[in-house]
Amino acid sequence: MRTELLPLASHDPAEPGVRQALQRAAGLIRAGGLVAFPTETVYGLGADALDAAATAAIFTAKARALNDPLIVHVDAPDLDALGARGVIGPLTARQRQRARRLIDAFWPGPLTLVLPRGARVPATVTAGGDSVAVRMPRHPIALALIAAAGTPIAAPSANRFGHVSPTTAAHVRADLDGRIDLILDGGPTDIGVESTVVDLREDAPRLLRPGGAAREDIEAALGQPLLRPEARRVAASPGLLDKHYAPRAALRSAQDLDGLRAIVAEERARGQRVGALLNAHDLAALGDPAPAYCLGDTLEAVARGLYAGLRALDAAGVDVIIHRSITGPGLAEALADRLRRAAAR
Ligand code: TXA
Ligand code: MG
Repeated sequence: MRTELLPLASHDPAEPGVRQALQRAAGLIRAGGLVAFPTETVYGLGADALDAAATAAIFTAKARALNDPLIVHVDAPDLDALGARGVIGPLTARQRQRARRLIDAFWPGPLTLVLPRGARVPATVTAGGDSVAVRMPRHPIALALIAAAGTPIAAPSANRFGHVSPTTAAHVRADLDGRIDLILDGGPTDIGVESTVVDLREDAPRLLRPGGAAREDIEAALGQPLLRPEARRVAASPGLLDKHYAPRAALRSAQDLDGLRAIVAEERARGQRVGALLNAHDLAALGDPAPAYCLGDTLEAVARGLYAGLRALDAAGVDVIIHRSITGPGLAEALADRLRRAAAR
């Protein structure tokens, strides 16, 4: 059966039509169902985070490896309430101070914190580990859904395991149609790449995944640098593996137009079908090659269009996707990370 897709007329949870849709979705979550919903980063596939069977169903729907833990989404920036509800465990003074600083600076928003696991979080959510990832999203629909459900919502990105994350309801349907109960369609997401994940359990805070919150801003809020992901942890967290955010097509990048032209010529000479993921200026300079997906000019615009572009060019059946290499701080770190993973074979 096709999964129902409920279009939302606005992001105002008080509007009658939106409120009705949220009540439906919240009822499904409370009943142990699976609901895809928009966040400011990407669409999430949500279930009651305190329900072992419901969260196990997320893994089945996504065909996700059971050893990849889920992010628990909450609707208030309140560490004590999370502790009292058994979402997070007791914190050391240092963990508390760091979490407090980051929550004050970033929540609601695209920052996920890894903290000691609370007693009520099922092992499915934490992949059997003793830590739990928590984030308060800033999308009004996500926040209203968590509030209406009356329970924290565990949600990975709403894509098939290994696919590119969805930034529209249509992307969710393309991956999960018939496998989940409902999709709330709130239009394209704002940021377009996933949240930044920071582990606060160790002696020093560690960046596990670059994302929508910039490393420099996190370091400024903490007053100290973030450690890099560690090999052993990477192995324990498949979301951090190479070839995770991958389209079917191969990816090739260059720093300038001459480099891009050379790749196009080389690939076409080998009989490969080349798709371009570039901004309007670059596309015009290359003679408007087809198929192409036009990205915006700023880092923010590139992030917003990146996954839709990868999906569109994949759907167009290209063998190779060309793009500009991206380097630098801030959002560029997340974009470079996703493009590197998308290129991994
Ligand atoms: O922006 C986002 O973070 C989106 C939206 C829906 O919130 N969610 C998302 O979830 O990207 P997912 O499951 O696709 O990626 C979560 C990442 C994975 O790499 C996972 O391994 C890591 O967070 N993670 C989750 N819990 C963890 C934990 N306890 N320790 C270490 N890493 C964890
Ligand atoms: Mg994901």
